[in-house]
Amino acid sequence: MGADLVKEILKLKKEKNAVILAHYYQPGFVQELADYVGDSYYLSEVARDCTEETIMFCGVRFMAESAKILSPHKTVLMPCASAGCSMADMASGKALLELKEKYPEAYVVCYINSTANVKAHCDLAVTSSSALKILKNVPSKQIMFLPDRNLGEYISEFFPEKEFILWDGFCRCHNKISREDILKEKEKHKGAKVLVHPECTKEIRDIADYVGSTSGIIDYATKNDGNEFIIATEEGILHELKKKNPNKDFFIPGDKICCQDMKKTTLENLYDALLNGKNEMILNEDIRKKALKSLENMHILASEDAKDI
Ligand code: 13P
Ligand code: SF4
Repeated sequence: MGADLVKEILKLKKEKNAVILAHYYQPGFVQELADYVGDSYYLSEVARDCTEETIMFCGVRFMAESAKILSPHKTVLMPCASAGCSMADMASGKALLELKEKYPEAYVVCYINSTANVKAHCDLAVTSSSALKILKNVPSKQIMFLPDRNLGEYISEFFPEKEFILWDGFCRCHNKISREDILKEKEKHKGAKVLVHPECTKEIRDIADYVGSTSGIIDYATKNDGNEFIIATEEGILHELKKKNPNKDFFIPGDKICCQDMKKTTLENLYDALLNGKNEMILNEDIRKKALKSLENMHILASEDAKDI
């Protein structure tokens, strides 16, 4: 049944001139059938540059929204309309406008994990893999960062000369990763390296051997000589980690770190959405155009030859 449905999806994909994008947190079977798998920065570039008419985005809403912002003439679909990001929903455009009134001089930076409404009121977007490089290219002294207080705090540690105004948002999944669970794993696997996503709290980042995005964690584990790694991020990443490193061992502290929304993709809803054009991303054109500026600035400032703006 599963294999038949995969065949049908691949056939339909050709007929519809569609491309399937999947984030590293998606279920393994989705990553296997996708054309492109990656972190949120990479997928935003693929969404912008791909030539297919339809993008099936297997991820969460802000990722599909970003694809539509960048590629308004493509049809962007999601397998499941309710796959959201609890962190992105912790900031609204209205609340941001209120805070901006208090800090009129601040340069406003959003994590890509934010709604199109929020992006529309920001100067710049970043992802966890691009944030440090991008912020180096921002001369402003006062930075407002939202919605992730943990990523914001992590970034601020690299720029002591700047003042950061941090929103109080967080990822429910990363924020609850426990230091005790990591230390327990370390007890069991003495030489294991601890690789941590910057959405984790400071007490977790402080015991990390490496802090970085999903692609950064995969790169680190792949290039490192060690054989054992404790992975403090969503467990969907294990699929790519094991695929690239079949002889290495990976341990998730507390045994489970799962983003329920990332796991809403099934073969059935993916097939149904592709066949019937379901869950299409539709954005208000005024909001889209305003939000585009923050994503375009992200791509410009993350590029190799980025200059100060
Ligand atoms: P990456 O950009 O590291 O893939 O992270 C996306 C995300 O949602 C992390 O929770
Ligand atoms: Fe959002 Fe957290 Fe899920 Fe990432 S893991 S998509 S930040 S809820």
